Amino acid sequence: MKKFLALFLGVLMALTASAASANVKLPDPQTSGGMGLFEALKLRSSAPGGDFPTAMLSDQELSNVLWAATGLNRGDKGWTVPMDRGLPPYVDVYAAIKDGVFLYDWKSHSLVDVSKKDIRPNIGLQNFVASAPCSLIFVANMESLSAVTDDALKAQFSAVAAGAMTQDVYLAAAAMSLGARYIHSIKESEIRSALSLAEGDSVICLMLLGK
Ligand SMILES: Cc1cc2nc3c(=O)[nH]c(=O)nc-3n(C[C@H](O)[C@H](O)[C@H](O)COP(=O)(O)O)c2cc1C
Repeated sequence: MKKFLALFLGVLMALTASAASANVKLPDPQTSGGMGLFEALKLRSSAPGGDFPTAMLSDQELSNVLWAATGLNRGDKGWTVPMDRGLPPYVDVYAAIKDGVFLYDWKSHSLVDVSKKDIRPNIGLQNFVASAPCSLIFVANMESLSAVTDDALKAQFSAVAAGAMTQDVYLAAAAMSLGARYIHSIKESEIRSALSLAEGDSVICLMLLGK
């Protein structure tokens, strides 16, 4: 009986440890101070692809950028970007970095482990995409869009959301002197399989980040 209890506790501890390591809490986002909005608007631009910055963002910078993209900004139902009828965000944001791929969980402001593989070399049609330290991947999530019944509207609403999200990323990047670039030329099927996306989900774009 004692042996069984020890084994049970061991398994439980291993499971708890793996669940904890699968969800990495980000530092709280910076929500005050910093550069003013109009100054950031004046600076917003795409970093040149051919000379894209190669240094990785700090955890705080990544936290700020992801929060800007789709973080909660009013209690537990209100986000930095507008969504149809205030639905929870129906465009998911993944971060592909050297250590693997993570899904941004806006509920807990944390990163969820998706893959340990460095997929950056195989997601963009342009060579420089491979060397950007961080690529955000924007994916329309059809399950989250199930409240929208018309297919054309699903596509339109997710594109509008991705536009708002990527502009927020551009502005946060400008405010923190990071390089950012929107990328449409992607290897969609490679990304789909790396992220094990559901059939109806679609990859909208990438946003490269570096400093
Ligand atoms: C819809 C859209 C698609 C884009 N696709 C790519 C792309 O595939 N590759 C790339 O290097 N840049 C891409 N860009 C970045 C644009 O080339 C860039 O925004 C444009 O040159 C204007 O520069 P600016 O952002 O500094 O104003 C895209 C931008 C948008 C808005």
